[in-house]
Amino acid sequence: MSASVIYVDRSIVWFNDRRYGYRLLDPRTPTTSLALGAPIKFIFSFSRARRARRTKPFPLPPPAPPPREKLRIVEITPYPLPHFFFLTHTTMRPTSRLCKPWVRNEYLQRILSARVYDVALDTPLMKANTMSQRTGHEILFKREDLQPVFSFKLRGAYNCLANLTETQRQAGVVACSAGNHAQGVALSATKLQLDATIVMPTGTPNIKVDAVRAHGGHVVLHGDTYDEAQEEALRLVSEEGRTLIHPFDDPLVIAGQGTIATEILKERNGKPLDVIFVCCGGGGMLAGIASYVKSVRPQVKVIGVEAEDAAGMTESLRQGKVTPLDSVGLFADGASVRVVGTETFRICEELVDEMITVSTDEICAAIKVAFNDTRSVLEPAGALGIAGMEKYIAQRKESSPNTRNEQNTYVAITSGANMDFDRLRFVSERADATETFVSVLIPERPGSFQELYSKIYPRNVTSFSYRYKDDTDAYIFMSFQSGKTFDGGSDVEEVLEDLDSNGYIVTDLSTNEMAKVHGRYLCGGRSTSTGGSTNAPEELLYRFEFPERPGALKKFLDTLSQGSAGWNVSLFHYRYHGADVGRVLVGVQVSDEWRESWNSFLEDLGYNYESENANVVYRQFLK
Ligand SMILES: Cc1ncc(COP(=O)(O)O)c(C=O)c1O
Repeated sequence: MSASVIYVDRSIVWFNDRRYGYRLLDPRTPTTSLALGAPIKFIFSFSRARRARRTKPFPLPPPAPPPREKLRIVEITPYPLPHFFFLTHTTMRPTSRLCKPWVRNEYLQRILSARVYDVALDTPLMKANTMSQRTGHEILFKREDLQPVFSFKLRGAYNCLANLTETQRQAGVVACSAGNHAQGVALSATKLQLDATIVMPTGTPNIKVDAVRAHGGHVVLHGDTYDEAQEEALRLVSEEGRTLIHPFDDPLVIAGQGTIATEILKERNGKPLDVIFVCCGGGGMLAGIASYVKSVRPQVKVIGVEAEDAAGMTESLRQGKVTPLDSVGLFADGASVRVVGTETFRICEELVDEMITVSTDEICAAIKVAFNDTRSVLEPAGALGIAGMEKYIAQRKESSPNTRNEQNTYVAITSGANMDFDRLRFVSERADATETFVSVLIPERPGSFQELYSKIYPRNVTSFSYRYKDDTDAYIFMSFQSGKTFDGGSDVEEVLEDLDSNGYIVTDLSTNEMAKVHGRYLCGGRSTSTGGSTNAPEELLYRFEFPERPGALKKFLDTLSQGSAGWNVSLFHYRYHGADVGRVLVGVQVSDEWRESWNSFLEDLGYNYESENANVVYRQFLK
């Protein structure tokens, strides 16, 4: 191990022994010169062995050679000893927090003696090849979704149950949860032959109730909300003498979750490891992992990740105290916690390096990233770590372009895979971070939306809606997958500028929630001139199917516009479903004299089609 001497300016000498940070060698020198951005003149390193042989006073430094590069102090972290600070300079990575002795002593011991492997697996730390290739970093997933209950939760639950006294064992346990904790407690109790009652709110989906029952838990459905269910659990504690197994705010639970970190560090022993991204709900896993990492390998950063609409730990750390949220979003339901734990907060405040919050769309994108690399479907909370990692990498790339060629090793905990199947549709719709939504005003004349389409082509159009409004203009609602620029960024801006310079009036709808959830399915309602009330020819409505493949929609549009002199497209709706056939709804205004050529055009087209003029939806909503 080496030590170093650092000259902040000519009069101040700091000594670093890598354990206590930088110490001001002459305490009489004012520390005010120690400022962020202060230039560092010289750093002299030598081995600890040599330093041990030297006698006090500390040897005078050799004359400082001219600086090789401009070093500046970028971070100053106080250490609770007089005249000691941690300094980080421009060529160093920011220091990680050191483990406070109380955590080191209490939790290191607790984690190392935690009993989890009777039920839990030492899960693989798997290289995510696709994500590693895309980001240029070494990306590893800690596969906690492969545990017997498909989440890490049984580690903490089992450790807690295994440490009950004989009296507590006889009285049984109770837990209140509609999620992964419930399954963890149920399986652990069955293994230890304990009586476990799990209280769940009455509206809990059957799939979750059945899973707990399958693991041997006795389920009590009580109350409409989590709080009401919890009241019932507390009643069972006071009336039946059962022990409440807390999902996160219990040292034994925290220690159980901390065993994840022992496996990661064992696996990465002697190998690079820069940051571990940990999803955070109540903070049990984050506190457990941070406690172990900061005791054993404190240089490794531990970053907590929360959903934007359920960021209880982020808010509490900002406020400096446990701060209940008024409400929490439920998308990442496994980690939707209104009040984080007191003990978990105490540990996280001390040891966690940073918190990152992510949006619902970012979580969906992370589920897709995980699927691409593992072929497993994570639940939203289970993908938080990956979502946070993506954001961290993107932010670093943006804020410090000089780190572009840096190759770091990042670990994300994939904490659970209890995905509600019905949610997959929503997830897959929102997972595509490259999808851009726009509305475009185009002139109402034959071939104009085909012209617009050719500006987007060859990018993949994922939805395309058009509804004839009047004789001059029409709005197109469309979404497309952006391509990549030469430096790996997105080419959305290029496309939008191109449309703009070609005279299209474009509105970017990518952050418009209404557009994404509803607008993409609407075709624009009734048209004033297609119902026979004006001179416009009557509208004919058809549903087409064509083999879906790249460029298929373009071919369809090209063909449709071939005979366009004789008819006018008045409605168009296409949505990419990833299925084998593309489905399009088309309305055309065909005058009587063109009806025959339209019919032969339909036959020549070679696509399956069906007339929908009699369809009740058409008659009620579009005609
Ligand atoms: C899949 C998953 N990830 C993360 C969490 C958050 O864990 P903690 O409450 O320990 O922060 C949970 C909590 O149940 C979970 O089920």
